[in-house]
This record gives sequence, structure tokens and C-alpha cells, in this order.
Amino acid sequence: MKKIAVIGCGLMGSRHIQALRALGYDASAVMGRDSEKTKKFALDNGIGEWATEFSKLEQMGIGTAHVCTPPASHFDIVKEALEAGMNVVCEKPLGLDAQQCRMLSDLAREKKAVNAVGFNTRFHAAVQKAREMILGGDIGDVLLVNGSYMQEFHALPAQLSWRYKEKCLALTEIGSHWIDAMRFVTGCEVDEASATFGRFFPDRTAKDGIQYPLGTVEGKPFHADSENAVIASMKLNGGGLASMVLSEITCGKSNRMELCITGTKGALWWNTDELGTLHSATKGRTQEIRFDGDFDSSFVNMFREIYADIESGGPEERHMYASFDDGLRNCEVCEAMQESEKNQSKWESVK
Ligand SMILES: NC(=O)c1ccc[n+]([C@@H]2O[C@H](COP(=O)([O-])OP(=O)(O)OC[C@H]3O[C@@H](n4cnc5c(N)ncnc54)[C@H](O)[C@@H]3O)[C@@H](O)[C@H]2O)c1
Repeated sequence: MKKIAVIGCGLMGSRHIQALRALGYDASAVMGRDSEKTKKFALDNGIGEWATEFSKLEQMGIGTAHVCTPPASHFDIVKEALEAGMNVVCEKPLGLDAQQCRMLSDLAREKKAVNAVGFNTRFHAAVQKAREMILGGDIGDVLLVNGSYMQEFHALPAQLSWRYKEKCLALTEIGSHWIDAMRFVTGCEVDEASATFGRFFPDRTAKDGIQYPLGTVEGKPFHADSENAVIASMKLNGGGLASMVLSEITCGKSNRMELCITGTKGALWWNTDELGTLHSATKGRTQEIRFDGDFDSSFVNMFREIYADIESGGPEERHMYASFDDGLRNCEVCEAMQESEKNQSKWESVK
């Protein structure tokens, strides 16, 4: 198999390197923007080669690129990797808008490249079981999906990072995971969406790389445009409804995602505080189905399937991992929500 490179020397870069290693695959190279920091990241992670230019990765004979950089850089890097004949595993969201995602998904198809988006939630054993049960008809037709994704990560004071410069924050950072998990588990698509965004504490002060509510410390005042909360409703194909609440500012919720699916014959629910437990119910009877695995094992399971396709020379039709087409669909749903929020939460069709 050809060599692997991880692009982006941050949190997800490390996570991808570790998950690959757990499967017996070692990244040969890392790529970053600053040569000293990239070299240090490579050495800290036991990787022998590093680059700050894409052309160097091509000279090294890299066959698969893991793109773990901020979303605004995904389009250019993924396009360059595909044009160089590489398979690509890109962190979510695939691109900043549907036009970018469509171009990348078309290019990946044309190049017959294995293409995947890092929606790791699909690979928790309980989530896979929920999908198997729903697609197998265990709870009947899907009537209602409700849930949330709550974090305290951006409750102030919080670190200043690329996240506050993106055009969107809560929706594309955590909402994209919820939307993907909902589509994956139920097999339903979103036909229409209505959304309201919360932009709490928009006026802030930056000091020493940390942001505070305006006026609480001395520093540089700035205005944050991106939303830190979302309430969204969805109409699903097949007649079901869905409701999603997102918050990046809820103290006490480190990384809590929840999904509850109501069907004509029963219901299922799951949340990330109890990763290994799937609750299943018919009227008057609830049971818990238990699985092993932690947060990191979802990445290992995801890469196992992606690398089976890479080893066999191309993407299989029936894989479980999210493809660039899924990344495009996800972006189209987010765009309908963004459009709705600009129009007093009017229902918008997903294009
Ligand atoms: N799947 C998940 O559960 C999950 C969780 C967190 C983040 N993410 C996604 O992973 C991606 C990275 O997030 P992160 O938390 O690791 O961010 P991070 O800030 O920790 O790391 C990003 C790294 O990319 C580098 N970088 C920026 N532009 C670059 C460029 N043009 N070329 C090379 N390197 C560049 C930065 O210097 C930094 O080292 C984002 O798309 C984010 O949405 C996914």
C-alpha cells in the first residue's frame, strides 16, 4: 500500500495518527504551515517526515491524505490531493458550501479515489446497531427523530481560534455530526428545514489568546458573528419529523450528543454520555443493549473500513463510512438551515 500523510498538526491530526496506528498503519509524513511546529509535531508523534508544501508530499509518493485542517482550507487541500491521484479522508465539514462539496465529490468520482468524511459517530457500535434495527424494521416506520448536541467548549472565557473566524460555528461544527448520524441511523433524508440561530455574547474582548464577555477584562474588543446555539426542525422524506437543539455554551456538557427515534412499532435512544448503551422500547417494555468501545474506537472502526477499500483499490458501493456525497448532502441541509435563519425561520427546501 502507498504511503499515508496527515495534513494539519492539531487535535484531529493526532487523533487520526493514533487511530491509524491502532490498526497497524503508520503515517509516513505530516504536513503543517510552520516548519518548526510541523517538525516538532512529527517528532512528538514518532513520524519521520514532514512537509509545509504539498509538492513535497507528492515527491514522497503519498497515496492517501488525511485532511485535518480547519474547514476553510479543506477545499483547496482536498482538490490538490485528488488531482495528485490520492485517496482522501477529510475531516468534517467537507467544504464551506454545497458548490465546493459538489466539485470535490465529482472530482473524487472521476478519479475513482476512496473518499471519506470524518463523521465518526457512525462507528459507535450502539449507533450501528440502531441503524441495523431501524433498517430491519424493528421499530416500524420512522415518525419522529429528536435530539441535541451540547458542549461547554465555547462558554466564555474560551480559547480564541480559527473556529470564531468561520462563517458558521455550532451548525457546521457539531450540528453536521447530528445531521449525519440522523441520516445514517434512520436512512431518512431531510426534505425541508427551518432554523433559528442564537448568537449569545456577540461582543467580546480578546486577551492573550482567550476571549471574554465584553467589558469583563481589558483587551481588544471584537464582534463574533457565528452562532453558538441552534434550534432546527426538519421534515423528512417518508413523512417523519426531526428536531435538533445545538449549544456550544452549556456548562457541564463536555461533548453530549443525543438521538431518540420514535417509530410506528417502538423507539430507540442513545447518547454519548453512555456511548455503549442503546435503549430500545416497545410499549410498556424497555431494554438496554450494551456494547464495548470508547470515543477513540469510533475512529479506529471508521478507518478499518476506509482502509479495506484503499487496500482493495477503490471505494466499495456499500460502505458504512460517510462519502463525499454524504458530505455534500450534509452541507445542503446546513445551507437550507442557514437560508431559513436569514428568512425569519421560514421552511426551506433542501436543494
Ligand atoms: N470528527 C470529529 O469528531 C472532530 C472533532 C474536532 C474537530 N474536527 C474537525 O477537524 C478539523 C480540524 O480541527 P482541530 O480541532 O484538529 O483543529 P486544530 O486547530 O487543533 O488543528 C488544525 C491544524 O491545522 C493547521 N492548519 C491550518 N491551515 C492549514 C493549512 N492550510 N495547511 C496545513 N495545516 C493547516 C493548524 O495550524 C493546526 O495545527 C476541523 O475540520 C474540525 O471541524 C472533527
